[in-house]
Amino acid sequence: MRHLSTKVRNLEESQTLLLTQRARLLQDAGVDVVSLTAGEPDFPTPAHIKEAALRAIEADFTHYTANQGTAELIEAVIDKFSSDNDLHFSPDQVLVSSGAKHSIFNALCAILNPGDEVIIPAPYWVSYPAIVRLADGVPVILPFEAATGFRPDVRRLRRAIGPKTRVLILNTPCNPTGIVFTRSEVEEIAAMVKETNLTVISDEIYEKMVFDGRKHVSIGSLKGIRDQVVTVNGVSKAYAMTGWRIGYMGGPEEIIRAAGKVQGQVTNNANSIAQKATVAALRGPQGPIDAMRTQFQLRRDYVARRLSAREGGEVRSPEGAMFFFPGVERCFGMRARGNLIRNASDLAEHLLEHHHVALVPGEAFGAPGHIRLSFAASMGDLEKGMDRLLRGLQEIQ
Ligand SMILES: Cc1ncc(COP(=O)(O)O)c(C=O)c1O
Repeated sequence: MRHLSTKVRNLEESQTLLLTQRARLLQDAGVDVVSLTAGEPDFPTPAHIKEAALRAIEADFTHYTANQGTAELIEAVIDKFSSDNDLHFSPDQVLVSSGAKHSIFNALCAILNPGDEVIIPAPYWVSYPAIVRLADGVPVILPFEAATGFRPDVRRLRRAIGPKTRVLILNTPCNPTGIVFTRSEVEEIAAMVKETNLTVISDEIYEKMVFDGRKHVSIGSLKGIRDQVVTVNGVSKAYAMTGWRIGYMGGPEEIIRAAGKVQGQVTNNANSIAQKATVAALRGPQGPIDAMRTQFQLRRDYVARRLSAREGGEVRSPEGAMFFFPGVERCFGMRARGNLIRNASDLAEHLLEHHHVALVPGEAFGAPGHIRLSFAASMGDLEKGMDRLLRGLQEIQ
């Protein structure tokens, strides 16, 4: 066996990617699997964005750019933050990276010393703990209450802060819970953060996916907290550009410069063509976002109706992002086709193996009594997927 670092040996693979991959393998083998695992829009990237990329290739815009991103993209990001989020940055306070995931990694590498703690409210996006560990930090998982729908709890947050805490990761709209922090929740968290010297990494990648007229509030826009917040965003979800790999962040100059140093040594600039496409996304017509949001809301409502009919009551609908995260604990200890369902992983396994519908078990998100269902799928797939899911659940007794 080759020598591998302890850090990497201990690193878990992303459960979401693993399940998506398993569903894909079954599909490749000819099995008709409905995959409700992925957190990516199933729409094509809008035409004007693709055309900008084609023009970039034609114009030979195919070389290294400035490490932090092209001047025109940095300006477009500054304008976006200003008009959408009331966040005001100078060019030295913005870094463009190869996806929001990369932005978070760069930010954590810039901030953490070995052993520094990072508070991650649970349920959390699968990759946060692993990225913290890769950056030599220690993830401190802080569960929010399932009974409240996992709404943020400032008293718990305050209690989790210790002498080694450096960073608090916030994610609204939240993957996997689908909650969107209200303005008063954001204000309450901001007031608490201001009493500390913590840095908040605010992951706002699902900002545009908010339903029923809700408004996303960026914590960095609140008074007196600006120097403590790094705001992360990107084009993956808003513009159906997951494969283009562009994320960006804005924050205190010192952190952004340090994150740029990390990026400069590891990857250098994000893809030049994708940067041109991102300028078109941010500066161009925003109609495609509204069209996608409308579709997502219709799909969300459809899934909610199907789940509610089974539960015989209202199921809590996601306020944002693209996921349902229902509790499934009542299935635990029961049997399906002779197999004992001990936990959400067993349940996901049963649904995939016998009913050919793929969902991600809650263990991956630090909430083992739950399962995540993505509604980023066509209506046809959702109908089929819900039929299979409900049939699979019925079998469990
Ligand atoms: C909460 C959250 N943050 C960040 C990302 C990563 O986005 P990107 O594709 O820009 O790396 C994802 C992707 O699934 C996500 O769900």
